[in-house]
Amino acid sequence: MNRTPAFVKLVEVGPRDGLQNEKSLVPASVKVGLIERLQTAGLKHLEVTSFVSPKWVPQMADNTEVMSALTRRPDVVYSVLTPNWQGFEAALKTKPNEIVVFGSASEAFSQKNINCNVADSMARFAPVVQAALAEGIRVRGVISCCVGCPYEGDIAPERVAWVAQAMKNMGVQHLGIADTIGVGTPLKIQRAMGAALTHFALADVSGHFHDTYGQALSNTLAALEMGIQQFDTAVGGLGGCPYAKGATGNVATEDVVYLLHGMGIDTGVNLEALIDAGAYIAAHLNRPTGSRVARALLAKREH
Ligand code: HMG
Ligand code: MG
Repeated sequence: MNRTPAFVKLVEVGPRDGLQNEKSLVPASVKVGLIERLQTAGLKHLEVTSFVSPKWVPQMADNTEVMSALTRRPDVVYSVLTPNWQGFEAALKTKPNEIVVFGSASEAFSQKNINCNVADSMARFAPVVQAALAEGIRVRGVISCCVGCPYEGDIAPERVAWVAQAMKNMGVQHLGIADTIGVGTPLKIQRAMGAALTHFALADVSGHFHDTYGQALSNTLAALEMGIQQFDTAVGGLGGCPYAKGATGNVATEDVVYLLHGMGIDTGVNLEALIDAGAYIAAHLNRPTGSRVARALLAKREH
């Protein structure tokens, strides 16, 4: 049975995952300019920033400034990453609609990324999740390294299932399955998704695919065929994790929108306005867009 959905929700992670790895600091005003353009393009869910240590990720040190400077729209969900209680307390003051706790299916990556083992990370997340829910803030969890880890190699779906269950038990409402280093291929992605679906409903699981090996669109299609209805994407294919060396950006939002619209799947996104948002940040970063679709459509505009 083909379970491909009629509408797909895209969570734009460009301002957070996309920019966190940039070496030179992107001014808060440029981040806000990008977010405004992404909103104009019709994106209704934006991952704005992270409340993590500025010593670990200097690019996100302006988290409060960016959240405060946004012109917020009532129909847009603004998410922020919160790795621990300290991050949650700081985030709370900026009134996010959703917080994201991020764990890992790999012990080594957990240690490198958030400086604790997987079990300890769950113990850190639990009070954050409970407090967020009590405040009426949505809670999403993301599991990194669901198919492969830069330090441990292949990751078994059972490990994804274990973390998914721990997150479900603490009250996480939606689970993202991340291929942090982009090594996944469709069947491996489907197995990782299947592990998540043993604990979360179909509508509550999303894909977060980095495109390091050029597999992210195929992996998106593989997840769509299972009925997955939500994906994290980054405009211009920006992104990477500072603690996963060599990992390149997220799958480009433009490329996923083109894929979905071509399949007759609605996203609510205006592709031309999205191309403008991508061109804005590419101009600031002084490099061409990483989106194949944006490159093709920008070339067409010149004729
Ligand atoms: P830690 O050093 O273990 O924390 O860091 P600690 O509690 O021992 O505190 C040490 C110092 O950090 C103290 O400061 C704290 O105040 C400070 P000091 O007294 O030394 O001056 N601190 C904080 N400061 C600001 N905000 C906080 C915070 N917590 C402690 N929340 C921590 C633990 C998690 C904070 C650290 O390891 C960290 O910031 N890691 C960065 C994680 C990160 O942002 N990674 C990238 C995002 S995840 C990702 O990209 C993957 C994803 O896209 C999915 C995928 O693709 O896989 C989501
Ligand atoms: Mg990521």
